[in-house]
Amino acid sequence: MKHDLIIKGGKLVTANETFSADIGVKDGRIATLGENLDGNDVINADNKLVMPGGIEAHCHIAQESANGIMTSDDYESGSISAAFGGNSCFVPFAAQKKGESIAATIAEYDRRAETKSVIDYSYHLILTDPNKEVLDELPSAFERGITSFKVFMTYATRVSDAQFLDILTIARRHGGLTMVHAENHDMLSWMSNALTQGGYTEPRYHAPARPSLAEEEAINRAISLSKLANAPLMIVHVSTPKGAELVARARMDGAFVFGETCPQYLFLTRDDIDRPDLEGAKYICSPPLRDIPTQEALWRHIAGGTFSVVSSDHAPYRFDESGKFSNGHDVDFRSFANGMPGIEMRLPLMFSEGVVKGRISLNQFVGLSSTNAARLYGMLPRKGTLAIGADADIAIWDPNETRIVGDMHDAMDYNPFEGMKITGWPTTVLTQGQRVIDAGKLHANPGDGNFIPVSYTHLRAHET
Ligand code: URP
Ligand code: ZN
Ligand code: ZN
Repeated sequence: MKHDLIIKGGKLVTANETFSADIGVKDGRIATLGENLDGNDVINADNKLVMPGGIEAHCHIAQESANGIMTSDDYESGSISAAFGGNSCFVPFAAQKKGESIAATIAEYDRRAETKSVIDYSYHLILTDPNKEVLDELPSAFERGITSFKVFMTYATRVSDAQFLDILTIARRHGGLTMVHAENHDMLSWMSNALTQGGYTEPRYHAPARPSLAEEEAINRAISLSKLANAPLMIVHVSTPKGAELVARARMDGAFVFGETCPQYLFLTRDDIDRPDLEGAKYICSPPLRDIPTQEALWRHIAGGTFSVVSSDHAPYRFDESGKFSNGHDVDFRSFANGMPGIEMRLPLMFSEGVVKGRISLNQFVGLSSTNAARLYGMLPRKGTLAIGADADIAIWDPNETRIVGDMHDAMDYNPFEGMKITGWPTTVLTQGQRVIDAGKLHANPGDGNFIPVSYTHLRAHET
């Protein structure tokens, strides 16, 4: 067969296997794994690793925060930055505004995404107003190929436990997955009020205002709710050892619970938010940054399998009046935008500090960065693996390239990971067989990425 493209000489890595083969791509899909292939176009991958492209499953793109602040990245800059960081697909959120129908939310995000993304994408639907009409409408999201919902247990966008149960139940019936931001809202409000009334208003007080206990309590409650509804649940951005232990214990007990953590909890600490003047505002994210023992515990949970995915929680707000300081400079820590960028850094950080430093295997890296997200969010076997018939969503890595982290390709004016020394970097990224990134250059155009409708047949076996 004459292929459109062959990738020659690389070492192929999937979540399960490492082997040498060439890849033949035809019509955007992997057509052949073998030797001596024939193709119109050739990528030489000698001394490189050839892996499924990353799937970024937690990122905020062209999305207003709970306080109405728009992210700096739209689908163009966000997808470009994701691609430069080794991702060939991403799943941002489509966030329902209060009073808005599901159809209106999806239509709005289609408008924000469809002529802009350079890589394939899907959405998780954030539900902030699950009234009766919205719950009745929710099954229509599955027909559209959107099967994951996210709820908050804090912020103005939070849902009650009863609403959470309603959403879990509909998700279970239709084979969907509910994701949750788990922090106890009243504990956070009470701590924040006590701190600000005492005059403790600087960015650094964001951390004590959101204690580990608030996450632990909410994760415990969320797991209990998912057990009551007998529905699968993903706890996103777990930031504490106790939270991770709760996820691990639930999984050992057979609960249908999954966990995610993020690079900021592995590489940054409360010392970063302690930076002088307002510099600490760059490091305000929720849950907040913790400490070195937490980092070590989270790494053990990554290596041991507690976490299915490591996602960036890319929530980009610039260090200016458009972002962090939308409410002004002279305000207390509650008024700075929550979140930090990291979509381009997730995979290089995990490769360098995870694989190169021996904390996880190469196959675990592929699982955590791509395959598990594809499985959980309904894209496997189309995406997330190197198999015949799968989309040719491929990242080629130079495992020896060393870089000092600097500016990224997002629309941000700071990089929280700046100055770190990284070994291993993606050199080529393909989405459906098309070069998106090659040799440090962007090759795709806005709008080249496609919406990928997903389905959930693999989770249905667990329904009762
Ligand atoms: O601080 C964060 N993570 N901001 C984004 C919104 C969220 O909580 O996921
Ligand atoms: Zn969150
Ligand atoms: Zn988030």
